[in-house]
Amino acid sequence: MNDAGRVLARAHGLAQDFLDGLDERPVWPRAGFEEMLAAFDGPLPDEGLDPVAVLDELAVTVDTGLTGNAGPRFFGFVVGGHLPVAVGADWLTSTWDQNAGLNSLAPAAGAVEVVAGRWLVDALRLPAGSSVGFVTGGMMANYSCLAAARHAVLARAGWDVAKRGLFDAPRVRIVVGHHRHDTIDRAVRYLGLGQDALVEVVSDDQGRIDVDDLTRVLAHGEGPVIVCLQGGEVHTGAFDDFAAAVPVARRYGAWVHVDGAFGLWAAASPTHRHLTLGLADADSWATDAHKTLNVPYDSGLAIVRDPAALAGAFGVHADYLIGGIADPVERVPEFSRRARGFAVWAALRSLGRDGLAVLVDHLCATASMLAQGLEQIDDIEIVNHVVSTQVMFRLPTDDRTAEMGRRLLADGTCVVTPAVWHGRAVQRCAVSGWSTSEADVAATVAAVRRVVTAL
Ligand SMILES: Cc1ncc(COP(=O)(O)O)c(C=O)c1O
Repeated sequence: MNDAGRVLARAHGLAQDFLDGLDERPVWPRAGFEEMLAAFDGPLPDEGLDPVAVLDELAVTVDTGLTGNAGPRFFGFVVGGHLPVAVGADWLTSTWDQNAGLNSLAPAAGAVEVVAGRWLVDALRLPAGSSVGFVTGGMMANYSCLAAARHAVLARAGWDVAKRGLFDAPRVRIVVGHHRHDTIDRAVRYLGLGQDALVEVVSDDQGRIDVDDLTRVLAHGEGPVIVCLQGGEVHTGAFDDFAAAVPVARRYGAWVHVDGAFGLWAAASPTHRHLTLGLADADSWATDAHKTLNVPYDSGLAIVRDPAALAGAFGVHADYLIGGIADPVERVPEFSRRARGFAVWAALRSLGRDGLAVLVDHLCATASMLAQGLEQIDDIEIVNHVVSTQVMFRLPTDDRTAEMGRRLLADGTCVVTPAVWHGRAVQRCAVSGWSTSEADVAATVAAVRRVVTAL
């Protein structure tokens, strides 16, 4: 058990082999879940195995079941790549094995989270002094922000939810756009508010919340209310009109939350910042570092303007906040956890403010280039206004669109994933990886052309 050098050298070699082959391997896995299960299945062995042999066995067995999402031609779902510096910091994070819950137990991890959090707030032009929780992803960032929101809006209504729970509490309305991400609904369920607490507002053809309808909905209700806006709709990449919507929400006393899982980063780019006008006037923002920032999984960020609201939801001793910096445990649902701040810090330290803007601009420019290339293919229609990183396209019939998607996955050159938009089948691209080059866009367009021609 005490041969760390030999074992970690082997792990390094296997990781390097994977990275070296990333550009060449089929992007979609060649083996599915059932094949992988069969490959791994069997009883727990009675006897152990040499650790290096274990790593070899693991790497060989997983190979056909790995997705090439860290590579340059993965455009499915919204899955970021990984910057080498963030992978390196992530390896060190495992090696150091710090428990980032408490500053006394893990002072370096705690300090790095504070500083990386400040850098993020600065880069994203959010209010200085906002509290930042390092969570697993956008889902838990939405949950954490909405937990803070629930705490704050109920406190304003004279109800201490931490003490009294939700039985007999004033009903909280959660006002959402029709095209919100599903994780908002899930977070609302986790919070015990129930799906029925959601009040839906009409969205436009790009998935942006209709501000007139928002005004109407808010005018017809009473009691504690949270408005959820979105920076980056998952299909279209569109941004809600924060400059119009936030003041309306404020007029009705709402807490304003923004789900910006991948889109929030537009605020870091002078070229794309216009999409986020008015964003900083909200109360909370959820985003992912494992998407646009290209940090390895899992890395999400819950940002809350009022630190007391986040600590109110999760704090062990909320009075820690007075005159000092609270323990990380006060900003997230977990207690013991991985020191996620190291990889985020390393990505930001390596990119700097300018590099971050370049990264955002690169992803957006790549999406535009992809749309322009796809548009040249006979029968392909680009469905959305390409304003950020998302591109949706389709063929004239749903059947052909779906078949195109299946054949593209089998082709292996690239990955785009299917969806339904306004009742029609589409294929979606989310450009999220730093390493996608013009040549990768060309190879992707060529693959789509090949598949469409053969349909
Ligand atoms: C807009 C939006 N919100 C939330 C999420 C959930 O993020 P995660 O998968 O990191 O939990 C996503 C994921 O794609 C998203 O696009």
